[in-house]
Amino acid sequence: MRHIPSPLSYLILHLFAFCYYAQVTNQSPPNFTQHVSEQSQVTDRVSRRLIRTYQLYSRTSGKHVQVLPSKKINAMADDGDVHAKLIVETDTFGSRVRIKGAETGFYICMNKKGKLVGKKNGQGRDCIFSEIMLENNYTALRNARYENWYMAFTRRGRPRKGSRTRQHQREVHFMKRLPKGAQPAQPAHHRSFDFLHYPFSRRTKRTHYSADQ
Ligand SMILES: *[C@@H]1O[C@H](CO)[C@@H](O)[C@H](O)[C@H]1NC(C)=O
Ligand SMILES: *[C@@H]1O[C@H](CO)[C@@H](O)[C@H](O)[C@H]1NC(C)=O
Repeated sequence: MRHIPSPLSYLILHLFAFCYYAQVTNQSPPNFTQHVSEQSQVTDRVSRRLIRTYQLYSRTSGKHVQVLPSKKINAMADDGDVHAKLIVETDTFGSRVRIKGAETGFYICMNKKGKLVGKKNGQGRDCIFSEIMLENNYTALRNARYENWYMAFTRRGRPRKGSRTRQHQREVHFMKRLPKGAQPAQPAHHRSFDFLHYPFSRRTKRTHYSADQ
């Protein structure tokens, strides 16, 4: 007589395996450090996408990066120029971003020769840059596909080939600036913040006052 496992014994076995699995996973919480370093390398599909608007002021040209309708990128724009307004979308919860011209909608990308080009579709890694805050407080933008290449402009505002760039060069240094006349809160896009009034604030204040006196 052969022993045929009944569906019930399968069920019990499954249940047992599941409990065991749950217990094991429960005992080993995810490694946060590892999670952060892994997730910083890939597109973040879980968090809300953060979108900022700013201008990039080039340290060498003294002007702003602009994306022209011809898909050309340069750093020759004045403060407040319509083509200098950039929309910056986060790609990871780290500091990787996609940058596009607000006026033209073209993304700033880097081709395989290290040339900065405007592209309609910004999904590729060639259109992703890591925002790096340097010790001198300037920002550098390193390409995600060509990992040693940075966004850079000459004194005359012409794009510099990525293959010739290094992080310490002035050509790769930028300041992020709000567009001229931009209000920190744009009513069309954002709701203003709701402030929470802490019940403690008054008492804290009073304590502070009495301490002063
Ligand atoms: C977590 O991951 C980091 C980097 O991968 C590693 O150095 C560290 O030892 C790990 N920590 C634990 C508790 O596994
Ligand atoms: C960078 O900014 C910080 C904070 O504002 C400041 O303390 C520091 O001196 C700045 N560094 C340089 C090189 O300007």
